[in-house]
Amino acid sequence: MGKTLIAFFSKAGENNVNGDIVKLSVGNTEVAANYIKEFIPDADMFKIEQVEPLPESYMDCFAKVKVDQSAKLRPEIRNPLESIDEYDTIYLGGPNYVETYPMAVFTFLEKYNWQGKTIKPFITHEGSSFGRAIEDITKTCEGALIKEGLSIHGADVRGFKIYIKRWIKQ
Ligand SMILES: Cc1cc2nc3c(=O)[nH]c(=O)nc-3n(C[C@H](O)[C@H](O)[C@H](O)COP(=O)(O)O)c2cc1C
Repeated sequence: MGKTLIAFFSKAGENNVNGDIVKLSVGNTEVAANYIKEFIPDADMFKIEQVEPLPESYMDCFAKVKVDQSAKLRPEIRNPLESIDEYDTIYLGGPNYVETYPMAVFTFLEKYNWQGKTIKPFITHEGSSFGRAIEDITKTCEGALIKEGLSIHGADVRGFKIYIKRWIKQ
């Protein structure tokens, strides 16, 4: 059996938490990814990070994300994995950024052949759940089996640990 990969995007710093702008020391999706790792200790982790990070300020970040989405930007990512051949299950996570995953997640996805891979998607959000993220990854990851995803209210991520445990077993 192949190995499991937990690939995720997450941004610490200013974020929208229940309508307020709050500085997070660890991003919500990273908290969720760490729980997955706790339950699957053999899994490898890959944090998807942009070479040129998004702005620290929430408002500036939001504006930049809107522009990047319209331009279908594929920001360069740091230390990309050469291949995902050794993995058969990939937990794929990120925040909902204006209705889909951050563009860097698509930079990551477009590097590999997804034929025969199983993807377990998870997302953290402030109300929009997956938005169109599942549709978008289905188009991008041709040939992958996309299992039922887990949608996590970002502000409550720590309360979701038990649901994450159950979802992993599905
Ligand atoms: C640029 C930006 C856009 C966002 N857009 C949405 C959105 O459209 N819908 C939503 O429910 N939450 C949205 N959020 C909230 C995040 O999805 C949520 O806070 C998430 O848990 C952040 O994850 P992270 O801490 O792992 O980066 C947005 C946050 C940012 C910074």
